[in-house]
Amino acid sequence: MNGHDMNAPMQPAARGINLVKVYGQGDAAVRALDGISIEFAPGQFSAIMGPSGSGKSTLMHCMAGLDTITSGQVFVGETELSTLHDKELTRLRRDKIGFIFQAYNLVPTLTAAENITLPMDIAGRKPDQAWVDRLIDTVGLRPRLAHRPSELSGGQQQRVAAARALASRPSIVFADEPTGNLDSRASAEVLGFLRTSVEEFEQTVVMVTHDPSAASYAERVVFLADGRIVDEMESPTADKVLDRMKGLGD
Ligand SMILES: Nc1ncnc2c1ncn2[C@@H]1O[C@H](COP(=O)(O)OP(=O)(O)OP(=O)(O)O)[C@@H](O)[C@H]1O
Ligand SMILES: [Mg+2]
Repeated sequence: MNGHDMNAPMQPAARGINLVKVYGQGDAAVRALDGISIEFAPGQFSAIMGPSGSGKSTLMHCMAGLDTITSGQVFVGETELSTLHDKELTRLRRDKIGFIFQAYNLVPTLTAAENITLPMDIAGRKPDQAWVDRLIDTVGLRPRLAHRPSELSGGQQQRVAAARALASRPSIVFADEPTGNLDSRASAEVLGFLRTSVEEFEQTVVMVTHDPSAASYAERVVFLADGRIVDEMESPTADKVLDRMKGLGD
């Protein structure tokens, strides 16, 4: 377990300060993030919601070091991403950050088991087998380990992707619409796993979703509009989230 030192002040697993992201230049410039400051506490499950184009994916990519910000600061733990050279950033991403995409991004020629440990295998790291075994059982993939992605359902593929994201025991997992391609049953499987990872493993999870019932699995919802934070909700229910979204025009 990544237990907390109860005597130490709780440092955020990640935080962004005054994040601005501008794509393009001149007349074509788009201000995708327009001054966002946000913290993700360790062991917290946050959802990010907002209309299409409001900057949700941009925020995830910048926080995860997959894209650079125009101004502001991103910290993962104590490390400010802009201070890192390419190699250091690659290493931090690999060791501290998990990412789950809407398209599962599994390697079709590899089995479920091989996909789960692929990032560590590429890095020449020996996976913690007891941890990987625990993940596999939690995610319910034990009987499917030898199957290739094409032999798995959408929900099973996304559970492989979720186990892969957690395999290196990252400080934080970013998930961008992880249930966007799934029906409600498969969504519940993936969301249940994410919630279990928060409750049992104290994993920090940040998830973008359009779905109020998916957001209700989180402990907190942050609402974006036009690249800004416009609201926040604790202990969300699907009904409360739906009501709030009506006001945002999604
Ligand atoms: N690579 C890019 N180049 C130029 N503009 C971009 C790029 N990526 C995103 N944008 C613009 O930035 C804004 C925010 O995009 P982003 O993908 O973060 O939105 P989103 O909230 O994730 O939307 P969706 O719900 O549709 O996924 C949009 O106006 C988008 O067109
Ligand atoms: Mg998006």
